[in-house]
Amino acid sequence: MEQWNDLAFARSWAERNTGDSTERRQPLDLLQRIVSDHLASGSVPARVLDLGCGHGVIAACILHELPRVALVGVDGSPPMLELACERLAPFADRCVLAQTDFETMTPADLLGGPFGVAVAVQSLGSCPIAVPRIPC
Ligand SMILES: C[S@@+](CC[C@H](N)C(=O)[O-])C[C@H]1O[C@@H](n2cnc3c(N)ncnc32)[C@H](O)[C@@H]1O
Repeated sequence: MEQWNDLAFARSWAERNTGDSTERRQPLDLLQRIVSDHLASGSVPARVLDLGCGHGVIAACILHELPRVALVGVDGSPPMLELACERLAPFADRCVLAQTDFETMTPADLLGGPFGVAVAVQSLGSCPIAVPRIPC
């Protein structure tokens, strides 16, 4: 987590990992389709939880493609959240961001639920405890 609190590291990673970068485009499209199909059933709330939303690229894709969906993005890194806040400004009426460290997070930190879908892209790999504790 420490490296993500470093402004230079966060900015450098964010610049190299945009929604347009070739290695990210295909998996992002696939994720987009899975989320869309799941919510299309109408049997779950049209709310997405983005765990480790980082600079907001995944959230922006979802909010852009699914105009009736609301999204809560949580991340532990202030610099990454600042970038997310800029990127997601056009979706401010459907998007909430919060700073939360997965290692100390409780269900009460996840405002805006219940969620129909939770996504976590490249964010839980180094965190040993998060997934089973999250209700969605
Ligand atoms: C590789 S980036 C991925 C960002 C975004 N999901 C994406 O794919 O574009 C990893 C993100 O997970 C966040 N993260 C890592 N460990 C975390 C923790 N223990 N608590 C909260 N956020 C964490 C970092 O701050 C960073 O923004």
